[in-house]
Amino acid sequence: MTDTTDTTTAPTPGFVTATRTFYDAVAEDYADRFRDELAARPLERAVLTAYAEFVGAGGRVADLGCGPGRTTGRLASLGLDVSGLDLSESMLAIARRENPGIRFEQGSMLKLDGHADGSLDGVVSFYSSIHTPVDELPALFAEFHRVLTPGGHLLLAFQVGDEPRTHDHPWGHPVTLDFERRRPERMAELLTSAGLTVRSRTVREAETDLGESTPQAFLIARRA
Ligand SMILES: C[S@@+](CC[C@H](N)C(=O)[O-])C[C@H]1O[C@@H](n2cnc3c(N)ncnc32)[C@H](O)[C@@H]1O
Repeated sequence: MTDTTDTTTAPTPGFVTATRTFYDAVAEDYADRFRDELAARPLERAVLTAYAEFVGAGGRVADLGCGPGRTTGRLASLGLDVSGLDLSESMLAIARRENPGIRFEQGSMLKLDGHADGSLDGVVSFYSSIHTPVDELPALFAEFHRVLTPGGHLLLAFQVGDEPRTHDHPWGHPVTLDFERRRPERMAELLTSAGLTVRSRTVREAETDLGESTPQAFLIARRA
């Protein structure tokens, strides 16, 4: 008997559904909390500026897991041809409202169907890989590698550490999600295994007076 099961549409992984549900619930509060945050963070601004210079003016860049678009807007102001992608429609509504003129679309960075092989000069994942289980990171970085043109650059930001932090009922919303923390050396190994050459590793200490409890890492890697 012929198997007519449709094998072309894979089920959405549970962690993706949980991430989308979480950010749909907290989007407005998250945007309010982080809207002006870059203004207080000179190292983040410096990393974004260096990244934009590595990519080059007019470079085509996708800000993956863009959230409310604070980094997308910053990268556009630095001269990049940037678009944003996120799982959460609520986040995207804010991103579009606050960044008129920038393209934002819904989707998962685990499967970038809208981007052909080698079509991007840059990929940014600013604190967006922190909800992807470690076992899924090789596939995620392979997808970043696929869409980057040779010589194209990745910027990856994440919290440094070994144990996840669970955010339970943030701002009173009935949602829970783990925020993974990772070691820069391990992330660099995974990027290298995906065919990316690490160009810089920036780690800054926690800004405890701004509410942080962990150091923050910013890796820039290039497709060979
Ligand atoms: C901590 S927020 C960071 C948002 C933004 N990059 C910033 O720095 O403000 C994580 C964002 O990544 C998005 N995200 C997580 N996993 C994703 C995936 N697989 N595909 C697309 N977006 C994802 C979430 O929906 C959320 O908006």
